[in-house]
Amino acid sequence: MNKQEKIIENTRQFVKQTLEKAEAGHDYWHIQRVLKNAEKIGEKEGGDLFIIRLGSLLHDIADSKFHNGDESLGPKVAREFLEGQNVEEQNIEKIVKIIENISFKNTFDGQKYRSKELDIIQDADRLDAIGAIGIARAFVYGGYKNNLIHHPGIKPKTRQSKEEYKKGETTTINHFYEKLLKLKDLMNTNTGRQMAEERHRFMEDFLEQFYKEWDV
Ligand code: ADP
Ligand code: NI
Repeated sequence: MNKQEKIIENTRQFVKQTLEKAEAGHDYWHIQRVLKNAEKIGEKEGGDLFIIRLGSLLHDIADSKFHNGDESLGPKVAREFLEGQNVEEQNIEKIVKIIENISFKNTFDGQKYRSKELDIIQDADRLDAIGAIGIARAFVYGGYKNNLIHHPGIKPKTRQSKEEYKKGETTTINHFYEKLLKLKDLMNTNTGRQMAEERHRFMEDFLEQFYKEWDV
């Protein structure tokens, strides 16, 4: 194992342990799926694979959703871990910036930082929020928040603030309109966009069937 491979292996172990009790939508399985898809996109689109791997592994290390909205914790935990692994400062900086900027909530006040590696990991993270897995994750999160599955009288908030979005007070079906169905057009890379198509169609079919069955 060379030095970089060793660091990736240590990071894997660290993330697995840290997320041991995480909510099912943001657990180590989510991390593994994002890593795989980011690698796949990276193969086509380029980018520094070392940064892509570490960024994917660490991107949800302390998600603000589960830490009272604190957005500074994830970057801090990641930086301390990477310093302990003697990763070069230049690379730590790139990875921390990725973690600070990856989240969908940043689209509300304009994402400030971009890099090829962030574009790729963000696409991989968004792919995991759509399709069959995206549907499953949305309902897990809705359950965690004790939100309704659906309420025909509550309309999606098409324009909401970042703070409002973060509260997550919505029906899970509305979350499709507030976020999930938008992701296809927010993909950064061509490869990501292509991968999103099938998953997007699956959500549209799901909603059609859902309303057919709901009919009260
Ligand atoms: P990011 O991981 O980009 O920060 P979010 O925090 O918006 O994205 O969402 C992470 C996961 O939780 C996604 O699968 C998303 O669909 C789900 N989620 C977020 N908010 C809600 C909500 N109000 N209802 C249902 N699912 C949600
Ligand atoms: Ni994620």
